[in-house]
Amino acid sequence: MPEEVSELSSPVVVTTIAELRERIREAKQAGQKIGCVPTMGALHVGHTSLVDQARQECEFVVATIFVNPTQFAPGEDYEKYPRPLKADVQKCADHGVDLVFAPSTEEMYPKPGITFVEVEELATRLEGVHRPSHFRGVTTVVAKLFNIVQPDFAYFGLKDYQQQLILRRMCDDLDFPVTIQSCPTVRDEDGLALSSRNQYLSSEERQTALAISRGIFAATDRLRSGKEDVAQVQQELHASLESEKGLALDYAVIADAHTLESITQVQAEMVILVAARVGSTRLIDNLPVSLSSLES
Ligand code: PAJ
Repeated sequence: MPEEVSELSSPVVVTTIAELRERIREAKQAGQKIGCVPTMGALHVGHTSLVDQARQECEFVVATIFVNPTQFAPGEDYEKYPRPLKADVQKCADHGVDLVFAPSTEEMYPKPGITFVEVEELATRLEGVHRPSHFRGVTTVVAKLFNIVQPDFAYFGLKDYQQQLILRRMCDDLDFPVTIQSCPTVRDEDGLALSSRNQYLSSEERQTALAISRGIFAATDRLRSGKEDVAQVQQELHASLESEKGLALDYAVIADAHTLESITQVQAEMVILVAARVGSTRLIDNLPVSLSSLES
């Protein structure tokens, strides 16, 4: 592609809050609906599927790329998290993003924050047990991003099921004028949910990781029949993943799709959630199971 064309098709990249606010003000003045896709970069088709949905629903699409230090605990992968900014901006261009917001850590946190947004209960379950400070970092940075970008719509992946539930609740409780759109999980052909962390996996580890989606799909089929004992399906999923060589299971549960409380009886809206470590890589996956015939 000639240089001028690639430049023409590139979105504007801004790194400061002041410049971002100026661009947003112009778009709002022009009557444009703002769609925001928050990311930590290392973009893959899961991320761009969110951008594609935003592109369909909003006139002005902002993608944010910021590896947020406050959602990583000491010893997690903050330092080694991939940061291929140039390739990310190209992907944003290819999917019609209008503006990329890629601030530095100093821009987002000029001084250590002493104000936090915390969603209780929901954030203490599942991921909250294994990563106790994680969701406080997520909700605080997303609240900041919402205050900066002031979007009408924001797009999150069901891949991070608990995260999107918590962010919905944050918007409800704190009256953020943002509609949260939750988008389906994009998977590789072999079933593995796309994740920026998959690139840490060796090919052998990747084969091991496939047990996660395989187990979730099998459990989904059994739940869909509507006749299975939920506790037993959960126990068998747990046992099959526990026995998988090279995989260290954090949890495998069937929960209420809204509260994330464990359930023992089949109900209309359920979700199967798994987290496990394969080598040094921590992976999460889930699948919501809706039995609409039970809804009435
Ligand atoms: P990140 O892991 O980069 O993910 C950004 C968004 O992409 C999230 O909403 C996530 O659920 C979605 N996503 C990731 N993989 C996906 C897949 N395979 N299919 C569909 N959507 C997928 O989640 C975060 O960043 C951060 O916590 C953030 C919200 C940006 C706050 O820092």
